[in-house]
Amino acid sequence: MWYILAAVVTVLGLLIHYLTTRKYDYWKKKNIPHLKPKFLFGNYEDLMILKTNLGSQVQKICQNFKDAPLIGAYFGTEPVLIVNDPELVKLVTTKDFYYFAYREISDHYYKENLTKNLFHSSGDYWKVLRQNLTPMFSSAKMKSMFALIENCSKTLEKVLDEWVATSPVLEVRSHVGRFTMDCIGSCAFGLDTKAMIDENSAFTNVGNLIFQNTTPRGLKNNTRYIWPKIFYALGLTVFPKEIDAFFRKFLMGVLYERRGKPLARKDFIEMVLSFYNKKCITGDSLKNLKSDERLKVDLEVDDELVVAQCFIFFAAGYETSATTSSYTLYELAKDQESQERARQEVRDWLRKREGQLGYECVTDLPFLEQCIDETLRLYPVLGVVTREVTDTYQFDNGPTVERGLRVHLPIYHMHHNPKYFPDPESFRPERFAPENKHNIQPYTYFPFGEGPRICIGMRFAKMQMLAGLVTILKKYRVELAEGMPKTVEFEPRSVVTQSKTGINLKFVPLPDAEEYVFK
Ligand code: HEM
Repeated sequence: MWYILAAVVTVLGLLIHYLTTRKYDYWKKKNIPHLKPKFLFGNYEDLMILKTNLGSQVQKICQNFKDAPLIGAYFGTEPVLIVNDPELVKLVTTKDFYYFAYREISDHYYKENLTKNLFHSSGDYWKVLRQNLTPMFSSAKMKSMFALIENCSKTLEKVLDEWVATSPVLEVRSHVGRFTMDCIGSCAFGLDTKAMIDENSAFTNVGNLIFQNTTPRGLKNNTRYIWPKIFYALGLTVFPKEIDAFFRKFLMGVLYERRGKPLARKDFIEMVLSFYNKKCITGDSLKNLKSDERLKVDLEVDDELVVAQCFIFFAAGYETSATTSSYTLYELAKDQESQERARQEVRDWLRKREGQLGYECVTDLPFLEQCIDETLRLYPVLGVVTREVTDTYQFDNGPTVERGLRVHLPIYHMHHNPKYFPDPESFRPERFAPENKHNIQPYTYFPFGEGPRICIGMRFAKMQMLAGLVTILKKYRVELAEGMPKTVEFEPRSVVTQSKTGINLKFVPLPDAEEYVFK
């Protein structure tokens, strides 16, 4: 009897071994430089055991291959192509976009209600959504929304004094997050999320749930990335069900209230409502990029489509900008000279405008913008932008890759590569000064991604980050709080480049702050 059992166990063991290692000769066969994969972990072990984040993991792999433009790796059991060359990044993101139009595993987007959104989706569903949502982020739209950002900035101006009076040391990411949450709530949903005035507002709580950094969540995210089929077959979801329920209830309430009424302002909800009224939205098929056809595709608009877009705009809209603003303040706290220069620029500008904040902050504060650009170089929110091969593709003088192959674009690594950015660990906003900017090689700096899938909210992000930083810098000097280290360690369980510990800064009120109160 025991030998039957032993035989079954052996066969099972061999089967599992075969299934998990059968792709481990993929890069050898393609003659692409690669590291030897470890059983089950491939070359992403540190990420999988939650020791490092994705950006740093891919950087570590790339550092083994100094000049290789294409690097083969194994994400767990799955082959992944790391594109580590600016010309090839251009090809993948822009020139030959059709062949790399999907984000990694975005084929599975329909398996979860909340992932039916612009970021996670693929194919014609993504294309039609992108075409229909793009007008919401035009410059004209941003300009028309600025009054709402201005209101939020005035609230921040007030509550900041209260926060600092309670404690001069603030954990900046969470506090700035309350500002950006109110901005996105107001601009996108026409709603006062009350995050700045109420620490426990419903939106703050759901925001925390979306970006919760727990070990089970980190492991779950990694499992989904590597084995999406098994993940969904087990009935798992990336986002807790409460998030879906929250947005569904909230949106249905807003939509019900607004239905049939004349609309006071042109916000995101209005656009969504117009989708609802039309019952379906139309756009071009992705296939048109390959052939000269002009195929049109209709997308039925249902509750799930609407809820998923609201969810992604809310989630991406506040967290990314809060993280970047807090790193900017952190770097300025370490570089008092740049901080003083930024403050002088802000104050001169406000004086000229008699204390009036306005949309012009996006064009009139070049040094502050350079500080944000340099911060995004050091801390790109996504350390790796992913793609997936959508159709067989032949690289010039390189390998042929098949549909379904994962592609990683190593933003973090490229931004920290001394070949492209001398003295890469130093915060030097002047890299982005008009007289130096031409030294930056195209496609070596892409914190918002590149090509047709570039971040749709880039303009909105810059607008709210600049407004928030103006509000803070005009009246406070920021310094590192006692015990705050000069370099941060990244949170391995987070999908964004977040600090492992909080970013604690001391806010020192400036004696002449009264002269710069917003009018
Ligand atoms: C500092 C702020 C931000 C950074 C650094 C950032 C970064 C990124 C990056 C790297 C991508 C992937 C681009 C690619 O694949 O080529 C992306 C996509 C996206 N971002 Fe942002 N983002 C920011 C703010 C925002 C905001 C404010 C919103 C919405 C209001 C937003 C919504 C999105 C969406 C929906 C996508 C998916 C676009 C698509 O696949 O078509 N992001 N973002």
